[in-house]
Amino acid sequence: MIDVSFASLELPASGALALLVPEDGLSGGLWEALEAASGGQVGRAVAAAEFKGGKGKSVTLLAPAPGMSRVVLVGLGKEALTPRALEEAGGAAAALLGKDAEAALALASGEGEIAHALVGAVLRSYSFDHYRTKQKAVDKPRLKRIMGLGADAAASQAVWQRHAPVIAGAFITRDLVSEPANVLTPPEMAARAARLAKLGLEVEVLDPDELARLKFGALLGVAQGSTQPPRVVILRWDGLGGKTDPLLFVGKGVTFDSGGISIKGAAGMEDMKWDMGGAGTVIGLMAALAGRGAKVDAIGIVGLVENMPDGNAQRPGDVVTSYSGQTIEVINTDAEGRLVLADILWYAQERFKPRVTIDLATLTGAVIVALGHEFGGVFSNDDDLAAKLIVAGGAVGEKLWHMPLAESFDKAIKSDIADMKNVGGRPAGASTAAAFLQRFVNKTPWAHLDIAGMAWADKDLPTVPKGASAYGVRLLDELVARFYE
Ligand code: BES
Ligand code: MN
Ligand code: ZN
Repeated sequence: MIDVSFASLELPASGALALLVPEDGLSGGLWEALEAASGGQVGRAVAAAEFKGGKGKSVTLLAPAPGMSRVVLVGLGKEALTPRALEEAGGAAAALLGKDAEAALALASGEGEIAHALVGAVLRSYSFDHYRTKQKAVDKPRLKRIMGLGADAAASQAVWQRHAPVIAGAFITRDLVSEPANVLTPPEMAARAARLAKLGLEVEVLDPDELARLKFGALLGVAQGSTQPPRVVILRWDGLGGKTDPLLFVGKGVTFDSGGISIKGAAGMEDMKWDMGGAGTVIGLMAALAGRGAKVDAIGIVGLVENMPDGNAQRPGDVVTSYSGQTIEVINTDAEGRLVLADILWYAQERFKPRVTIDLATLTGAVIVALGHEFGGVFSNDDDLAAKLIVAGGAVGEKLWHMPLAESFDKAIKSDIADMKNVGGRPAGASTAAAFLQRFVNKTPWAHLDIAGMAWADKDLPTVPKGASAYGVRLLDELVARFYE
C-alpha cells in the first residue's frame, strides 16, 4: 500500500501536487504560493482551460515550477464536501498523478478533511501485477508516497488510522478476487484466509470429511464434479470478548463457476473466476474489523467450492438433502451459489445464534439486468436492516437498492418431488433466488446482498481501478461502525 503522511498546508518544494478545487473556489494561500512559484503559469493554464472547479473537470501542468514535476487541479463542483465527495476527488487525483512517485494532496479552500481524499487516492491506486513478468518500468504504478496537506495533521492522521485497516481489508478482497481460478482453488483460498489469524482472528477450516460428517449435502453436491475439494472457513472476531450475540457475515465462494452440467456458454465464462466475490468480501471485512479493533463480536463464514462438469458431477434433476434437513431438487446445476449458501447459512445461524445475518453473493445474472453496475441488490426480512445497509452504502459510495421478497417468489420454487427446487423460472430471478435463501434463514434479521453486478468493475471508477472492486467491505464496515459498535 502507498505510504501516507500528513503535513501543514504549505507548497511542497518538490514532487507533484494535486489541488482539489470547489467550483469557483480557486483561491487561498496555497494557490497564491503556487501562482508565485510558477510565475503565473498555473493561472494562465487555468484560464486557457476555462477551469472553474466543476465536478469531474481537471487540468494537468508539467513542471510548472523548479523542482515540481506536476500540478493537477481537480474540480469538486458545487456539492457539499462530504467524505465521499472527497474520496472521489482524491481517487481522480491519484489517477492523474500516477506517473509520480511522490505527491501531495490539498484542498484549495483549506476546508474539509484531506484524509478522506487520501482514502480515495489509495483505493484508486490499487493494482494487481502479480502475473506481469514483462511490464516496463514506465508502465508500472509508481505512486509510492502521498502527503495530505491540511490545517490539522494530527486530526487527519486520526481519520486515516480509522480507514487504513479497512483499505487493507479491501485490498485483501481485491487480491483474492483478482486471482485466477487455477491458483485460487478452495484449499488455497482457505489457506489464505487462515493466514489472517495474525490479525487476531480465530480461524476454523472444515474439510470434506467434516462437511460430510455434518451432512452439508447441498454444498457437497456442487463440489462433487470438481477435482478440487471444498472448504468451509469460519473467521471469528471477538471484539467484545465474544460475550454478545455476534453479527454474522456469510459469503458465496465459488472459485470457478462453469455452470456444471448445465454448462455456461463460452463467452465471458472467464468472469466466473470472481464468483467467489461474496466470500472474498467477507474475508476482507473480517480482516478490516480485526485490523481496526472493532468493538463488536462478529463471525464470518464462507463456503468454498468449484462448480465443474464431470462424470461425477451432479445432474439436473438430482435431489440433495441440505444440512437443515430440507430437500432440494437441482433443476439447474448453474444455480449453485444458493446451494452453497443454504448449508452455511443454516449451520452458522444454528451454531452462533447471531443477532443479525448478512450474506453476500454474486448470485444472479438477473440482478445485473435489474440494477446494472450501479447498485447491489438488498433483500431482507427486516426493513430497518435494509435501510441501515442503504445508508451505510451511500456513505462510502457502495450503493444498494432495496429489492422485493414476496410470497409468490417463494411459491415459484415449489418442487414436484422435493421440498423445493433451486430455480424459479425466468421472472424475477434475483428475487426467487433470495426466496430460496430465505428458506434457510430463521427468524433473526437477515439481509442478502446480491453483488453480481458490483464485484468486478469493467471500467475505472473514482475509487476503484478496473477489476476487482471489493464492493461490500467498506459498506459493511460502515454498517458496523454506525449501527452496531
Ligand atoms: N455466478 C452466477 C451469477 C452471475 C452471473 C454472477 C453473471 C456474475 C455475473 C450464478 O451462479 C448463476 O449462474 N446464476 C444463474 C441462475 C439461473 C441458472 C437460475 C443465472 O443468473 O443465470
Ligand atoms: Mn452458476
Ligand atoms: Zn455462481
